[in-house]
Amino acid sequence: MSAEVVKVVMPPSPAPVVAIDGPSGSGKGTIAHRLAALLGFEVLDSGSLYRLLALAALHHGVSLDNEAALEVLAGHLDVQFLQNDDGEAVIILEGEDVTTEIRSEEMGRAASMVAALPAVRAALLQRQQAFREQPGLVADGRDMGTVVFTDACLKIFLTATAEARAERRYKQLLEKGFSASLPALIDDIRARDDRDINRAVAPLKPADDAIVLDSTRLGIEEVLARVMREVEQIPGLQRHIKS
Ligand code: DC
Repeated sequence: MSAEVVKVVMPPSPAPVVAIDGPSGSGKGTIAHRLAALLGFEVLDSGSLYRLLALAALHHGVSLDNEAALEVLAGHLDVQFLQNDDGEAVIILEGEDVTTEIRSEEMGRAASMVAALPAVRAALLQRQQAFREQPGLVADGRDMGTVVFTDACLKIFLTATAEARAERRYKQLLEKGFSASLPALIDDIRARDDRDINRAVAPLKPADDAIVLDSTRLGIEEVLARVMREVEQIPGLQRHIKS
């Protein structure tokens, strides 16, 4: 009787994901990029997709509460995420460089409105998940740990007081050449928090297994050092740390 050889082919394990969620201005974008560079991972800035959709709606005359039309637009969003010769991110929407335009406060507000619509979130879900590639991904947003990458191997929820976040935003906007008013930014951040926290679908909240970091009194280097301490505890991430 000849013994039968059964070959078991194990499916490749999915690329590791670090989810960094938090409210507007908490520093998660900067931390996500710094961490991705230290690990050699790609970055998903999920907020940019909502900002791009809001801008596309503006271009096509679609109102920000027309859920059915926004769902179609989200499904057909013609976007390219590129890098220029200096390695900086360049975002092209329908053939036009909109890298700076989508960063305005107006577009942030509009993004928060379209992001409250369930059909829009569903239409953008797979597009976000498609960013998951080897060797790994750092995903920044509001629902990376709770909805989009529930199996992320590390979930960080980065927060800070509205005043501290508004002040950081104020400095960033001035540096980028936008004009800004600090009291208006505080009001705006509170309104945005309120909309992001209280929406019915994928509200802004820490995942049950997230590590919550309050950065109100911390500089970016200190936050990064704390995040790296967490990264070092995860075997699937340790081996990616570049010295
Ligand atoms: O991170 P950001 O400021 O670029 O995001 C803009 C808006 O998009 C934010 O107010 C809420 C929404 N957003 C979301 O609902 N879910 C995400 N994962 C990312 C952003």
